[in-house]
Amino acid sequence: MIPPPLLQNLALASTLLFALTGHQHHGAWAQNTTKPTPGEREGGGLHSLFVKSGKLFFGTAIDTNNFNDVAYQAIAKNGSEFGLYVPENSQKWGPTEPTEGAFVFAGPDAVDAQARTNKQMFRCHALTWHSQLPQFVTTTAWTRETLTAAIQAHITALVRHYAGACYSWDVVNEALNDNGTFRDSVFFRVLGTDFLPISFAAAAAADPAAKLYYNDFNLETLRAKADGAARVVQLIRAGGARIDGLGFQAHFVVGGTPSQASLTATLGRFVDMGLDVTLSELDVAHNSVPAAAGALQQQARDYVAAVGACLAVPRCVGITVWQFSDKYSWIPGTFPGKGEACLFSANFSRKPAYGAVVDLLRSAAGVAAAVEVGGGGGGGRRNTSASGSGLGKATGTGVVVGAAPAATGDAAATEALKSVGVRVGSWRVGSGLGWLVGVVGGFWLLV
Ligand SMILES: *[C@@H]1O[C@H](CO)[C@@H](O)[C@H](O)[C@H]1NC(C)=O
Ligand SMILES: *[C@@H]1O[C@H](CO)[C@@H](O)[C@H](O)[C@H]1NC(C)=O
Ligand SMILES: *[C@@H]1O[C@H](CO)[C@@H](O)[C@H](O)[C@H]1NC(C)=O
Ligand SMILES: *[C@@H]1O[C@H](CO)[C@@H](O)[C@H](O)[C@H]1NC(C)=O
Ligand SMILES: *[C@@H]1O[C@H](CO)[C@@H](O)[C@H](O)[C@H]1NC(C)=O
Repeated sequence: MIPPPLLQNLALASTLLFALTGHQHHGAWAQNTTKPTPGEREGGGLHSLFVKSGKLFFGTAIDTNNFNDVAYQAIAKNGSEFGLYVPENSQKWGPTEPTEGAFVFAGPDAVDAQARTNKQMFRCHALTWHSQLPQFVTTTAWTRETLTAAIQAHITALVRHYAGACYSWDVVNEALNDNGTFRDSVFFRVLGTDFLPISFAAAAAADPAAKLYYNDFNLETLRAKADGAARVVQLIRAGGARIDGLGFQAHFVVGGTPSQASLTATLGRFVDMGLDVTLSELDVAHNSVPAAAGALQQQARDYVAAVGACLAVPRCVGITVWQFSDKYSWIPGTFPGKGEACLFSANFSRKPAYGAVVDLLRSAAGVAAAVEVGGGGGGGRRNTSASGSGLGKATGTGVVVGAAPAATGDAAATEALKSVGVRVGSWRVGSGLGWLVGVVGGFWLLV
């Protein structure tokens, strides 16, 4: 008879196995970049745990205006917490090409340099967007030909400058109204929907290895807008251009966040179109601040639903929060009275949502606290090249055992497991994926 705690865990564990097998498509990028290959890091932070769960990154928006804040930087530079940066503002069209043909790269260069120093990935944002445009784009009397040339010149300069550094580009940002029709922008007025393939083709030509994304908000909750995003993908492809992914901004509200099941289904719809997906700007804002204790708990559940949905979808490559501290969140400035949307408070204390996400990721990663303390983090090691690697999941006693070290030949992990009293060597996975279940020294072992 299968013990009940295990039954509860099988669904998640099988999801995670898919996450591992789905991970292999990231390999080409890793070999095609001058950046270090993202990998496991020491510690139990958001990124290191997410990577152990089979994902590429847990990242944050950041920009040079945050660089002089020592307490902020201590967390931002911690590669265990954040494995990717996206420049919050400095890489947009306005700051990078304030006058036509004169490019300014200092801001995003500094963000890229810090990411490089800390062996963090770099997500690039954003090329064709109706907002934060330089004056020349909004005031010139464009023709189809001149605006096409201006878009191509901007994208070519930006994407070439960061070729090899950017894991991905948000090529077109927020082209849709909430009802799924196209937003009234200079691009749509002059070019109709042709600005979509024009932008994606220019980006692909300038850095063939960068993943090219369409990025928007409310795709998670508004069916009509998600339908619009599906049309965006079709129009890009019909125009002969390549699109690799959909960025779901995931700006949520406490208590109004979609359920994990609903978000998983929406992400899956775009995976079925052959795309990667990502939660590109995640935050969960309180409708009024300061948040009461109950609201903090609801915020924690909302973050868990969002992160859980990404875990459940193998081609959800990672998550980026739109700042990690309430001190720098964009929410109060744009939505007065709302806020406290981040995982860390304004004084950098970790909020209940942070703890809840870490708990979820520890379970997903199959990391046993006991193994980490006793043996240096050997349990739950991810080894995508070994068909025999498996996953564990916390039981009611809070103990987890991860990879099958005997099958992967991982001596350090074997020693780590032995040091906490787990017999190893007798658990193996044959060819293919299967389950072996047993009780070892009072611990459930799932491989
Ligand atoms: C690197 O990118 C180029 C251009 O897309 C591609 O032709 C090449 O196969 C890639 N190399 C690897 C190792 O993936
Ligand atoms: C980095 O973050 C992890 C996870 O919170 C923590 O364990 C570790 O001590 C941090 N490292 C530094 C240098 O602050
Ligand atoms: C869709 O929304 C836009 C922006 O709010 C509006 O201008 C337009 O009339 C709407 N279209 C339909 C068909 O509802
Ligand atoms: C930090 O901020 C949190 C949330 O506002 C608050 O509960 C906590 O007391 C603060 N800690 C310190 C040391 O000020
Ligand atoms: C992963 O497993 C393969 C096959 O057992 C082994 O050759 C390789 O060294 C392992 N890699 C890591 C990083 O443990």
